[in-house]
Amino acid sequence: MSSRIPQTFIDEVVTRTDIVELIDNHVSLKKKGKEYAACCPFHNEKTASFTVSPEKQFYHCFGCGAHGTALGFLMEYERLDFIEAVEVLAQQHGLEIPQDETNYIKNNHQNLYILLEQATIYFQKNLRHTQHAINYLKNRGVSGEIAAKYGLGYAADGFENLLKQFDCAATQEQLIEIGLIKKNDKGSLYDRFRNRIVFPIKDRRGRVIGFGGRILDDAVPKYLNSPETPVFHKSDALYGLYEARKSSNAVKSLIVVEGYMDVIALAQHGIENVVATLGTATTSQHILQLYRCTQEIVFCFDGDRAGKEAAWRAAQQTIPLFKDGLEAKFLFLPQGEDPDSLIRSRGKEIFLQYVAEGDSLSNFIFSKLSEDVDIRTPSGKARLAQIAKPLLEKFPNGVFKKLVFEDLEKKVGAPIHYGVTTTKPKNSRSSSNNKATPVRLAVAALLCQPSLALEVESISHLENCELSGVPLLIKILKTWKQEPALTHAALIERFRNQPEEQQIQKLMSWNPPELAEPKQALEDALSWIERKTQSSRVQELIDKQSTDGLTEDERQEFKNLLHQKAS
Ligand code: UTP
Ligand code: MN
Repeated sequence: MSSRIPQTFIDEVVTRTDIVELIDNHVSLKKKGKEYAACCPFHNEKTASFTVSPEKQFYHCFGCGAHGTALGFLMEYERLDFIEAVEVLAQQHGLEIPQDETNYIKNNHQNLYILLEQATIYFQKNLRHTQHAINYLKNRGVSGEIAAKYGLGYAADGFENLLKQFDCAATQEQLIEIGLIKKNDKGSLYDRFRNRIVFPIKDRRGRVIGFGGRILDDAVPKYLNSPETPVFHKSDALYGLYEARKSSNAVKSLIVVEGYMDVIALAQHGIENVVATLGTATTSQHILQLYRCTQEIVFCFDGDRAGKEAAWRAAQQTIPLFKDGLEAKFLFLPQGEDPDSLIRSRGKEIFLQYVAEGDSLSNFIFSKLSEDVDIRTPSGKARLAQIAKPLLEKFPNGVFKKLVFEDLEKKVGAPIHYGVTTTKPKNSRSSSNNKATPVRLAVAALLCQPSLALEVESISHLENCELSGVPLLIKILKTWKQEPALTHAALIERFRNQPEEQQIQKLMSWNPPELAEPKQALEDALSWIERKTQSSRVQELIDKQSTDGLTEDERQEFKNLLHQKAS
């Protein structure tokens, strides 16, 4: 993911950022010795165990184990992805993100975005001049204001309207690329959207990435979407998300519905926190995006069988992403109604009442799982435990997970042992369970005082060492030898998405007594490692001598080693 932005740029952004200032804007920090402290924003607490080190440009909570760099903080606190976090910092420093040379051409779809925007404007103009399309929307209760807010347009009947509008071969090639023009078997070009209301679908930044189109008469298909294109991916697009976020800074909850017209109709009635999937099942990308913008997702489905199944799929996608502090609700509309028809016939209050009465995630899961078991019998209870456990184990570790398992135990009347998923370092008191091994001490000493890397003359003997953690030690030494000006935080960002990421972050906030003298600690650790490497080599040679015998070179090496050991 990070490969899209050149590493040197990430270095620069991170180096320019002061984590104390950044965090202080969100959580008020108090100076405490060399560091700053506050009540942790990532868990509930009364005493301040959240500390920020200006020197290491790193934060760490002794209570919940949360830790990271400035970028990490933004990602956690604002629920941004990596690139978005880089964007925020870049913006704060007035920097433009350069595109990586090789990826530039692939990822810069600027021309496609411009063309999509031009097509949107063209469709909007069409709508203004087409009375029967305006009437269609009016009949469905859509005002001019809402049509404008969502940028609705109209693609006129006929095969060559858009085609003639963009009468240039190169542009038409691009229109094919964005799915607005199709080529038939004979090679002639024609408009994809004909006689349809078009719904521009935007990304989070408000750029149009594709369209949905509803036919005005009874022709099929009723709805048509843009095909997959370089900028449009149905499985992670959410219709209305941009508009929902624009209408309110802090979106308290987001309602997920099935249709474009549901989004429009709810907005028409003043409910603007609504998004729609595009005729696809809810994916985890959808859910991740939604939870970046809100704490609560309300899934709204038809009351029929298909709606129940879609809801169940959505629930399963939600489980692994359901961190403490998030909410999910499931609501089912009466048979034959969709949000559009319901709000138009019964009004906003009734719709909101349905929302308020939605099932919580855990209720929904338990009622779904209990459907096919008779919970009154011991065998039914055992069956429930059996099917629930693997599902509930997928919840991220935390208070909520504990509570659902307690719920399950109550329902079945027996204790249930469940595993704690290990993917999340946050809930463990990570700093305290670092044992002071010499390799860890060496790494931690370097993290305390990077300049020590320059004093380590040779690392060649380390390369043969098989102790765990040594490859990380070597990487850090090499990086800091090559780029002594790199800051702590920039170094850590180098390890993002690398296997060593967690290890290095843990060591960053580790503070054993040995580190009072980082230089001494590093020297001691390195010489211990050297001795250890030698003695395991000695043992290896002894073993080999008693089995295969030693070569002349090995014999010489053995002598040297014994000599070194003695001295
Ligand atoms: P519905 O068939 O439930 O339509 O499709 P609707 O939203 O109630 O439409 P109206 O009220 O008759 O205008 C829901 C969603 O499924 C996708 C579209 O994304 C639509 O918004 N869909 C539906 C298609 O992609 N193609 C279709 O032919 C039908
Ligand atoms: Mn409908």
